[in-house]
Amino acid sequence: MNAEYAARVRHATSLGSLQRSGQTVGENWFTFPLTYSHFARSIRDGGIFVEVGSWKGRSSVYMAHELRSLGKRVSFFCIDTWEGSPENVDDPWVRAGSLFDLFLENTREYGDLITPVRKPSVEAARDFADGSIDIVFIDACHEYESVKADIAAWLPKIRPGGVIAGHDYLWRDDNPVKNAVEESFHPSNILVHRGENVWFVLA
Ligand SMILES: C[S@@+](CC[C@H](N)C(=O)[O-])C[C@H]1O[C@@H](n2cnc3c(N)ncnc32)[C@H](O)[C@@H]1O
Repeated sequence: MNAEYAARVRHATSLGSLQRSGQTVGENWFTFPLTYSHFARSIRDGGIFVEVGSWKGRSSVYMAHELRSLGKRVSFFCIDTWEGSPENVDDPWVRAGSLFDLFLENTREYGDLITPVRKPSVEAARDFADGSIDIVFIDACHEYESVKADIAAWLPKIRPGGVIAGHDYLWRDDNPVKNAVEESFHPSNILVHRGENVWFVLA
């Protein structure tokens, strides 16, 4: 498994337009290839997958690549303000106001698969019918209030049998993500993949 995991991570960082002149574009925050591969395999044909927080597109490209390789017909929405989270204010693309352009460039070869939605998470959730989404993966702002608001907004949108999940369960010493998740769900219903720093709740 370790060798397979290492290969998946290598693959995730070398996909298409994320690699330019031998340089990998964007930060390596994508620590959850097994989770995304599992989602890609398990989601039903015709299903809806929502990624909340896409940044420069690394996780989005990996998922799109998996869906294409598997021949899955899935509606894949990437939700982001493309303004960065509070800790990203010094990123040059955020400062220049061109983060969205970089996302579009990085995801261009999967443009037929990905639908970007440039809105705040809670506002974007209103565009989806209750009980309509198969999988929501939350990787936006990791502050406590933001994670709680994201979960509250997206949870009603998940269909029975679906999954709500998110990244950075263990983030910072004060654990804002873990605290928000544990206050939103009964602790016995929270699954954690520690290796990928991901939490899951089955709907
Ligand atoms: C950690 S990054 C996402 C990383 C990406 N999933 C990856 O693995 O490469 C978080 C993203 O969430 C976005 N974001 C933060 N708060 C948001 C909000 N309230 N609504 C929508 N997007 C938000 C930021 O603009 C940023 O692009």
